[in-house]
Amino acid sequence: MNKPVEGFSKLTKEQKIDWLTTNYTEDSESAKKLLQLYWNPDTKVQQLHDEFIENTVTNYYLPFGIAPNFLINDKLYAIPMAIEESSVVAAASKAAKFWLKRGGFKTKIIGTEKVGQVHFIFKGKFEKLSRFIEDLRPKLIENASSITRNMEKRGGGITSIELRDKTDELKDYYQLHCTFETLDAMGANFINSCLESFAQTLENEAAQYGSFAADERHIEVVMSILSNYVPDCLVRAEVSCPVSQMNIDHRLSPHEFAKKMVRAVEIAKIEPFRAVTHNKGIMNGIDAVVLATGNDFRAIEAAAHAYASKNGNYSSLTDAKIEDDIFSFSIELPLALGTVGGLTSLHPLVKLGLEILGKPSASELMQIVAVAGLAQNFAAVRSLVTTGIQEGHMKMHLLNILNQLGATDSEKNTLVDYFKTHAATHNAVVEAFEKIRN
Ligand code: MEV
Repeated sequence: MNKPVEGFSKLTKEQKIDWLTTNYTEDSESAKKLLQLYWNPDTKVQQLHDEFIENTVTNYYLPFGIAPNFLINDKLYAIPMAIEESSVVAAASKAAKFWLKRGGFKTKIIGTEKVGQVHFIFKGKFEKLSRFIEDLRPKLIENASSITRNMEKRGGGITSIELRDKTDELKDYYQLHCTFETLDAMGANFINSCLESFAQTLENEAAQYGSFAADERHIEVVMSILSNYVPDCLVRAEVSCPVSQMNIDHRLSPHEFAKKMVRAVEIAKIEPFRAVTHNKGIMNGIDAVVLATGNDFRAIEAAAHAYASKNGNYSSLTDAKIEDDIFSFSIELPLALGTVGGLTSLHPLVKLGLEILGKPSASELMQIVAVAGLAQNFAAVRSLVTTGIQEGHMKMHLLNILNQLGATDSEKNTLVDYFKTHAATHNAVVEAFEKIRN
């Protein structure tokens, strides 16, 4: 039975690895070697990674791939994607190529508003609180001015501070519901600093507000934090073409294919079990670009799924329709992204990822990411309503299986060739491998 460790964070990296491999691995020497294998030979790069988080013992690689040929608002992009799942980059590239010949993707920013809240308890009369907040607003803004000065110079800052009465849902619970424009920054630090300043001002000023009775002067701030739900930091991306151009192969007419695509999205609109998987496929594309550009994919996921439930039922983030013989396929989702701050100027590959995208503004990145999600969904649904997902997926997964089996390069070449014309199930791959081995 292992014992708890004291002062782990104070140990050197080597000591941490010694402790870890001795207590938690079967073969401490080979575990150490494996951890070291993933260290970057450039000590500066390694130090950078060591310092991103605490208690770093090694790096965890993800493939960094490129999906080329994305025509977005008449500009051509090669999109970097960091993801482990086979076939995601291939699917994105395939969708990009399909739409390249049909006018490309069109996008629009609907809003860029970020949100943060000070959650507090007030045990007095709402009318008095409301008057107090009205009186307080200039001071809330003034007291945060050292935080907001630079952002304001660039055209951003605090855009609203509103009192919300939540006492119907929770006794004595109110919020300062605040909105912000954070320009090219994701803005988490900016927003949280503003909110903590608001909270301090709120408590201090309440304590001396003349119109409050003695027991109203104590406002209890519970917490001050940004919200990752940003329904007004919203982007829309769309593709469309005449139905006659929805030609994919001889098995389906363009009209049948377009109709099947619409049906599949209709199902994801009304059936949550399907919608979750449908949206998961969208997030395959979105998260991969979000990661490659150093953004917070957990925040993006949380917001996207909340938005997918905005009407009370979890539903598809994409829409498809045929109108006047035009097929259109679109996505609308919130994306709080940054192209300055955070990892964007620190992580060498993130910097390169942003350079590959032409150093986009946050708004431009929102549009690119939304397109990656739409393209991914188009590719997934296309496969689902035609060949089924396994054909393409197993082709891409083939190399993973062959690597697991320890195939040599020449065995891999032979089998990749063979499975161009044969169904690549796991069993079929193992059997074919054993056959050529023996
Ligand atoms: C797999 O990662 C994603 C899909 O399941 C998405 C979908 O079903 O739409 C293929």
